Amino acid sequence: MKPIRVGLLGLGTVGRGTFNVLQRNQEVIRRRAGRGIEIAMVAVRDLARARALVGDSVPVTDRLQDVVRNPDLDIVVELIGGCEPARALVLDAIAHDKHVVTANKALLAVHGNEIFDAARQMGVMVAFEAAVGGGIPIIKALREGLTANRIEWIAGIINGTSNFILSRMRDTGASFETALAQAQELGYAEADPRFDVNGTDAAHKIAILSAIAFGVPIRFDAAYIEGIGSLAAADIRYAEQLGYRIKLLGITRLTPGGVELRVHPTLVPMKRLLANVEGAMNAVLVKGDAVGTTMYYGPGAGSEPTASAVVADLVDVTRMHTADPDDRVPHLAFQPDALVRLPWLSIEDTLTSYYFRMRVADQPGVLADIARILADFHISIDALFQREPAQGENQADVIMLTHEALERDVNTALRRIEALETVLAPVIRIRQESLA
Ligand code: HSE
Repeated sequence: MKPIRVGLLGLGTVGRGTFNVLQRNQEVIRRRAGRGIEIAMVAVRDLARARALVGDSVPVTDRLQDVVRNPDLDIVVELIGGCEPARALVLDAIAHDKHVVTANKALLAVHGNEIFDAARQMGVMVAFEAAVGGGIPIIKALREGLTANRIEWIAGIINGTSNFILSRMRDTGASFETALAQAQELGYAEADPRFDVNGTDAAHKIAILSAIAFGVPIRFDAAYIEGIGSLAAADIRYAEQLGYRIKLLGITRLTPGGVELRVHPTLVPMKRLLANVEGAMNAVLVKGDAVGTTMYYGPGAGSEPTASAVVADLVDVTRMHTADPDDRVPHLAFQPDALVRLPWLSIEDTLTSYYFRMRVADQPGVLADIARILADFHISIDALFQREPAQGENQADVIMLTHEALERDVNTALRRIEALETVLAPVIRIRQESLA
């Protein structure tokens, strides 16, 4: 059978990886796919740079439309990232009867519903394994491996850059800026690294996983997002003293009241595998009612790890190319007419445990006042310690862990605590998950 013909949009970190993996492993990939997979055209902004990378083996253009509308291509691989022009190009490719493979989580989180509708109407596939968790086949696991289960929750380290920064800061004492610069050099960071640091990238990914897990449309706009930018070294240290590590987690949970969707720094008990995922590695925990908790671990960013997922999608699309569209795996795991609308919970409706750090005057009665306010709002203290004031200081840090409490109650209680004269700075609050 003649090879399936692929057009590549973008030759950045992931594009180069995809090109190299396809070249290097073409024989084993052909044996698996049942036919060859050939990159027949590449579109890039910088022609000279692209020619240096791919030589004369493949036609190169700087007109992205030449790939998207090329009647000789079967699949368009979109690796340019961002929402525009990626959205327009992907929709154009679909309109021109092409399957699409993309690693673009921002695009799918924001425009996925529109793109999947368009693909369904045209009977083409949109595959996106590389959009979440880099090389980890988490989309396949959720869409296919776990179809027997009612998924209860997902919690994951799904941004390699922020995890790399947290690990570096802890292990080597590197500054935030140095660690971020290293992540950029290694090709982990987004074009705009603020998305890695402020939680947006992780929110794009957990929004996609949430839809696949619960059979709902993708709702990135419903996500609560908090990044690692304002984490203090002191909190990382105190968390360790209490037996926890701080990780940026994407969490989604189906509760009787609706769906939680949130990204924030989280205290994770050190004994959990997830707490020991370091560097740019990603890990996703999935709780299914039948299987229990499963964990998927691997490189979450980088050139060839992400290319591994892109090429796996190319093989899947090649295998299913001639199948009846109704027999293919649905984009969001559930049949399109079986998606349901569920309420999305605001962060105020979240029930979780907390870490608080309070800078207080070191004098009698302070703790009693704080404890009374917490009790008034049904917030029960699980552990507490006070850091000895430095010599000559009459201030101290009070660190506490709470049992589960409603975020709305916590917000009100903390406002009252911060109004006490003896509480000298805004209270630092980090959410905590036992992941049991
Ligand atoms: N910037 C992303 C990360 C790349 O650091 O995880 C993979 O999506």
